[in-house]
Amino acid sequence: MRHIIVTLIAGLCLIGVCGCDSGPKSSKGFSLPDGDAKTGEAVFVELKCHACHTVSGIELPEIEREQSIALGGQVARIKTYGELVTAIINPSHKLAKGYPPEEVAADGESKMENYNDAMTVTQLIDLVAFLQSRYELEPYQPTDYYMYP
Ligand code: HEC
Repeated sequence: MRHIIVTLIAGLCLIGVCGCDSGPKSSKGFSLPDGDAKTGEAVFVELKCHACHTVSGIELPEIEREQSIALGGQVARIKTYGELVTAIINPSHKLAKGYPPEEVAADGESKMENYNDAMTVTQLIDLVAFLQSRYELEPYQPTDYYMYP
């Protein structure tokens, strides 16, 4: 009996963990056409994203700065298209890591501007291609184990 209960609980936990990957609101089937990173860079400047962001390895024109949130650079895991699209069209879903929440959000809402009525889908696709190309995987650091003689 105990065995059955444990199996049942384990099964329910599994459904709980995997459950969010299916269903009508899941990202299953999400796919973006290839964008153009060079055009994306121009869109980034045109939409004044650089008022709040720096981009690793890219010189951007001078602008009056509101925030300085770094995009691109070395990360432990490359950002996916899905994550970048979400960060742009639904920024409060998951706030950027590494900043005190009160600095990047107010009442749990991201301070990032909402572009959803101002941006074309083509612009979004090119922006994502541009940003994704700026992320670099951190080189793997093997742990130094002390060898006993
Ligand atoms: C008014 C300031 C502001 C502007 C303008 C702005 N952002 Fe942001 N952005 C933020 C803030 C603050 C965050 C951190 C909070 C969050 O994750 O939403 C952020 C986060 C992001 C992230 C996620 C970064 C991470 O490490 O998770 C991406 C990607 C991004 N912005 C892209 C853009 C793009 C593309 C534009 C222009 C279309 C733009 N932003 C314009 C303020 C801004």
